[in-house]
Amino acid sequence: MSAAFSFQLDATDGAARTGVISTPRGEIRTPAFMPVGTAATVKAMMPESVRATGADILLGNTYHLMLRPTAERIDRLGGLHRFMNWERPILTDSGGFQVMSLAELRKLTEEGVTFKSHIDGSRHTLTPERSMEIQRLLGSDIVMCFDECPALPADEKRVAESMRLSMRWAARSKEAFGDRPGHALFGIQQGGVTQELRAESAEKLREIGFDGYAIGGLAVGEGQEAMFGVLDYATDMLPQDRPRYLMGVGKPDDIVGAVARGVDMMDCVLPSRSGRTGQAFTRHGVVNIKNARHADDPRPLDESCTCPACRNYSRAYLHHVFRAQEIISSMLLTWHNLHYFQEIMAGMRAAIAEGRFAAWQAEFHAGRAEGDI
Ligand code: GUN
Ligand code: ZN
Repeated sequence: MSAAFSFQLDATDGAARTGVISTPRGEIRTPAFMPVGTAATVKAMMPESVRATGADILLGNTYHLMLRPTAERIDRLGGLHRFMNWERPILTDSGGFQVMSLAELRKLTEEGVTFKSHIDGSRHTLTPERSMEIQRLLGSDIVMCFDECPALPADEKRVAESMRLSMRWAARSKEAFGDRPGHALFGIQQGGVTQELRAESAEKLREIGFDGYAIGGLAVGEGQEAMFGVLDYATDMLPQDRPRYLMGVGKPDDIVGAVARGVDMMDCVLPSRSGRTGQAFTRHGVVNIKNARHADDPRPLDESCTCPACRNYSRAYLHHVFRAQEIISSMLLTWHNLHYFQEIMAGMRAAIAEGRFAAWQAEFHAGRAEGDI
């Protein structure tokens, strides 16, 4: 076993890439989709079930875990992997983004951000240095720089100032992270939807030097067309030989479009959150299981899906347990959604490796309806 963190690119097809990230805790096949395990659990799923869907890596959140049960407690209990019974790689987000969307009474300064917990109102401070310390205590394999991201639309001056602050924080994150063999630190590109700002941000990050590069500040209200517009140039601004991670994306067609533009990793709450609100993603489109027309339907969610929800249960059953607010409803729909997202990733990896990604993409889009099915 190698103690190092490395990225090997195996094949490219157009801008799309496939490869493997190696870490001491295991390999991550790319393009990779990371299920979100915010509070040390992928909600409604046992870790072995998450693995069974095909996930190589999970995402955890500094913000949530520092508030509850605290990073120090997780450290005392042997780190996040042991605590949540997931021994494979974990990437942790750095907290700044979640503070901005979840916390109350936020105060942003050059030093960092102070805020009130959305859980109990207690006061906390996050700085690049503290975020690095928390992610070290958690035992995260892939650590994210501490950054800040304005909600779009925002005026360009505000986006530029925010990006430059994030770049100063990126340098402080790198300094505080230090030298930790087997653990990786990723920089996060910001700059909104302005090409010059994205270029300035990428240049700064490359100058500092990171193990991987994330594209942040997207999927924050700009829409798919604008996001793809940024990805059309943003991936090329980042080093070829390092993983590129698009943060917080997305719907199946967002994911496919991002991979087509050279993205290697993504994460999103969508498959798990939608599973709890009765939405299933299938190759034919979205199924809203609460809809009355499923009440007598003996067919599975998706005839060609091999997940436990589709192999063993009817739409009628899934409709019933959703309406009755039974816990198994969240379990089955989450499993199905995560299985489907991982199937998309596996399909893309194989297609890129075999040089038929364009045909794969055409087939992916051909079978899909826009609205509910
Ligand atoms: N998750 C989604 N977007 C972002 C971002 O821009 N920064 C961070 N840290 N996390 C994110
Ligand atoms: Zn299924």
